[in-house]
Amino acid sequence: MLNEIEEAGSDKRTFFELLGGEENGTQNIRLLVETFYDIMDSDPKAKPIRDMHQSDLTSAREKLFMFLTGWTGGPQLYIERYGHPMLRKRHLPFAIGESARDQWMYCMIKAMHQLEYDEALMKKLANQLYGVADFMRNQQGH
Ligand code: HEM
Repeated sequence: MLNEIEEAGSDKRTFFELLGGEENGTQNIRLLVETFYDIMDSDPKAKPIRDMHQSDLTSAREKLFMFLTGWTGGPQLYIERYGHPMLRKRHLPFAIGESARDQWMYCMIKAMHQLEYDEALMKKLANQLYGVADFMRNQQGH
């Protein structure tokens, strides 16, 4: 799956295109988000961040799906529905330090492994998401 990645640097395609584009991009992002939250919901390593979320993850799943679709370069589903994401501000109610950031990334990388993402795509996507996750930090240290 997703093994058509060109050499780094020569690839100008968006993540959305790399994830399947118009035909499959939204389904693939949906699958990534469902897998991500299934992991967060069951893996003891992610329990601290799972506990920050509402018991029902339905809306978190839907919102992350909508956000990531636009963020990867696909249709701006989140913005069309909710306006500017103001993600950092929306995360201020939650105490996010290094360990919460790392738990979030752990779930995302585990999801990409489970879905057998191409190694090059996984690295690029994980790097970009790490930047966003790190930006959410609102606590010094752990
Ligand atoms: C760094 C660690 C992170 C933690 C601990 C965290 C935690 C949370 C929590 C607790 C919520 C509320 C969910 C609910 O309603 O139950 C939330 C919402 C959300 N998160 Fe995160 N998050 C993190 C990183 C990220 C990242 C990296 C992204 C995007 C790439 C993201 C995107 C979102 C979105 C789109 C929402 C919904 C916002 C809204 O419209 O209310 N989060 N997050």
